[in-house]
Amino acid sequence: MAYLHWSSDLDTGIDVIDGQHKRIVDYLNELNEANDKGDRQATNHVLNELVDYTLTHFAFEEELQEKAGYPFVRAHKRVHDIFTKRVAEFQKRAAAGDDVAPELLSMLKIWLVNHIKGDDADYAESVRKMLGVEGMEGKVAGGWLGVALKRFFG
Ligand code: FEO
Repeated sequence: MAYLHWSSDLDTGIDVIDGQHKRIVDYLNELNEANDKGDRQATNHVLNELVDYTLTHFAFEEELQEKAGYPFVRAHKRVHDIFTKRVAEFQKRAAAGDDVAPELLSMLKIWLVNHIKGDDADYAESVRKMLGVEGMEGKVAGGWLGVALKRFFG
């Protein structure tokens, strides 16, 4: 059973962001599965992938906010940075052999849901407006969005 189910109240209305958030939720569920199996190596592997992907998402999201002229981009980045430091501590402990998954899963679930519903929901309107005005979402592979996606996610 999934550890965290996607629900419509997590939607920001920005397809590209919702897709990335869903991927992070998938990683969280994979982490839970690996942990349930008691496979420490797989758990640490998923943990590192989850962190890499999330940090890339943060960087992409911050650039999207800049581009949209969202006024609280710095505050949002600070929230991302604090989270990044917390997770790095978990990674360090995991690398040293600690079984961090149960504690980490519980922290991630709470943090992620609150962050998406609160901080991310707050910038969504600015970005939706910008994407709507520029007609960039989904269709302009050579436009700013397509170029940024390629730059961040390859
Ligand atoms: Fe989608 Fe601010 O993380």
